[in-house]
Amino acid sequence: MKKVLVATEKPFAQAAVSEIRGILDNAAYELILLEKYEDPSELIQAVSDVDALIIRSDKVTAEVLKAAKNLKIVVRAGAGYDNIDLVAATEANVVAMNTPGQNSNAVAELALGMMVYLARNGFNGTAGVELKGKTLGIHAFGNVGKLVAGIAKGFGMKVFAFDPFVAAEIIEKEGVEVVKSVEDLYRNSQYISLNIPSNEETRSSIGYEILSLMPEGASLVNTARKEVIDEKGLLKMFSERPDFKYLSDIAPDCYEDIENNFPGRYFFTPKKMGAQTAEANINAGKAAANQIVAFIEKGVETFKVN
Ligand code: 3PG
Repeated sequence: MKKVLVATEKPFAQAAVSEIRGILDNAAYELILLEKYEDPSELIQAVSDVDALIIRSDKVTAEVLKAAKNLKIVVRAGAGYDNIDLVAATEANVVAMNTPGQNSNAVAELALGMMVYLARNGFNGTAGVELKGKTLGIHAFGNVGKLVAGIAKGFGMKVFAFDPFVAAEIIEKEGVEVVKSVEDLYRNSQYISLNIPSNEETRSSIGYEILSLMPEGASLVNTARKEVIDEKGLLKMFSERPDFKYLSDIAPDCYEDIENNFPGRYFFTPKKMGAQTAEANINAGKAAANQIVAFIEKGVETFKVN
């Protein structure tokens, strides 16, 4: 009997676990659940004899892979796979996959939700501003970026996008104006929605130089990864531009600095919350379980990332 470990430091909704269990039962696989673990050693212990692994932002390091003697496949139930050591996975002959698009709507809704929250001063009773008529730049037009654009248009925002990997026609079809450079995007946009992945090229790439191009009333909305921000540049932007606000799905490392010096100009989720809805959990969890069964039974490698 094949063993599948679902290791989620931040657990899925129960409904998602039930769906995963149903798929694995049908395939006559055994589900092992490791939720809310506090130390990586618990994951290292739990992977020792499993054939497949489903994770969220849980870190699959070389050490985890070394301990997982029978592991054939790890599926990141979500989009970003910067938490998997892909080189070590390939060396260990382990296939790594993600489940693109399955949790995107939840992330997009959070981006707009945070924007409304800060535009209304955290609903503290004072007069805020509206999103209608404001400009929004979508930095990377993938699954999340496209959905953020659609919702923002519903709010009456003017939406721009920059993504060198997506053809202009695809973006324009969504009623979004394509700009020619990343600088133009920031120059045109009072709000920027960051939807870039975290990788060698993007890490620490968003700093003062680019942010300072934004016009008056600048707000940066980060539902991507905190690692893409150059935090020195972020702090400089906060101190030199009193109009600047920052919304991020999980706090940056320089959180205390911002809290102490720039009150009312930020909102940070206490845990990464973008994909934390029942629907996103069910979609991503089911996709992960189905991908594992399809890979083990038929060798299907769709969404392989290594
Ligand atoms: C993703 O990359 O899919 C999101 O950041 C969601 O991460 P999570 O599964 O840890 O909530």
